[in-house]
Amino acid sequence: MKKFSDRLNRMSFSQTFVMSNKVRQMKSEGIDVISLTLGEPDFDVPQNIKEAAFEAINNNFSHYSPVPGFLDLREAVCEKLKRDNNLEYSAAQICVSNGAKQAILNVLSSIINDGDEVILPAPYWVSYDEMVKMMGGKSVFVKTSIDTEFKITAEQLEQAITPKTKALLYSSPCNPSGSYYTYEELEGIANVIAKYPHITIISDEIYEFINYEGKHTSIAEFPQVYEQTAVINGMSKAFAMTGWRIGYSACPTWLAEACEKIQGQMTSGANSMAQKASITALRTDPGEYRFMIEEFKKRRDLVYSLIKNIPGFNVNYPKAAFYFFPDISYYIGKTLNGNFINDADDFAMFLLENAHVGTVGGVSFGNPKCIRFSYAASEKDLKEAMKRIHEFLENVALS
Ligand SMILES: Cc1ncc(COP(=O)(O)O)c(C=O)c1O
Repeated sequence: MKKFSDRLNRMSFSQTFVMSNKVRQMKSEGIDVISLTLGEPDFDVPQNIKEAAFEAINNNFSHYSPVPGFLDLREAVCEKLKRDNNLEYSAAQICVSNGAKQAILNVLSSIINDGDEVILPAPYWVSYDEMVKMMGGKSVFVKTSIDTEFKITAEQLEQAITPKTKALLYSSPCNPSGSYYTYEELEGIANVIAKYPHITIISDEIYEFINYEGKHTSIAEFPQVYEQTAVINGMSKAFAMTGWRIGYSACPTWLAEACEKIQGQMTSGANSMAQKASITALRTDPGEYRFMIEEFKKRRDLVYSLIKNIPGFNVNYPKAAFYFFPDISYYIGKTLNGNFINDADDFAMFLLENAHVGTVGGVSFGNPKCIRFSYAASEKDLKEAMKRIHEFLENVALS
């Protein structure tokens, strides 16, 4: 007899994993599928970071680390926040965790009570809503569209605030939209939140470096909300270290202590060798790793030149991260080769089964009209994927 908790029953599997599992299954059946489902850099970890990990192993960094991370790593995080974001933090305000994902969960677990509301600008990263539900909270979605590059305004934000609002959670640069909030836009948001001291901003900046305009702003830079902000970041996207599982939060001290308390009872300190290697990653001049960004930029332009001509796609020019999020409403409510398309998830499944290209429908990102393409893939695969979709949709029977 299965005896699941209410907490588990509230949650769903990630649609990203549903689609990537389906891709794996089709490949095992010998079908030639191109997968653009997963959000991880396809580069190897830079050599100097690997060397630092070997050194840590040889120097026997094989024991438990302090729960919030080694002091020298937390100091390196503070230096990075000063160097790149002009933010002042002390090591006591940093909690290093098993990826940015755990850093977000630590913060949510520290502040959310049953029924508390968390504002999520939609589209949002798939895990946010599930994490809020896990904590017993309620997500309040603020809708956007492609016409505003999927960004909310300060006015929209203010309208969503209620006495139960505990947090605002967003990513900038954004997964899945590839947009980022400018200095002025964040200032407007900061001015609203500053009026509500009980609200915490959870600012997920994991894609900070993957910004083709290089104008990243952290909302914590605005003094009026510094004390209300948890900055989230990590190694996964900037240094292609997804499997090394190192992320961190930078918070006001009371919240940093809470994160340490939660993490101390959940997982303890993150992997000690990966922590040591992360010091090297953070202390290296970001210019050394710029080649990855340049490569993503080339691919962004390549995909844009092709995707904008696909029939029925309405697409914007993303400025950051490595995703396209075209609006495919043209196909919703229509029948394609005899298949009725209810929403973007149906459309993504239809493309996978017929054009053999894996994407992710936008329903679990909070937008049922768009599908997400990751362009963290080779140029050859990207060209072939766009060709397959274009040719397929050009010839599909549509009614
Ligand atoms: C917006 C966003 N935040 C956080 C994460 C998770 O990062 P990490 O690998 O550090 O847990 C991802 C991964 O896809 C992401 O897209």
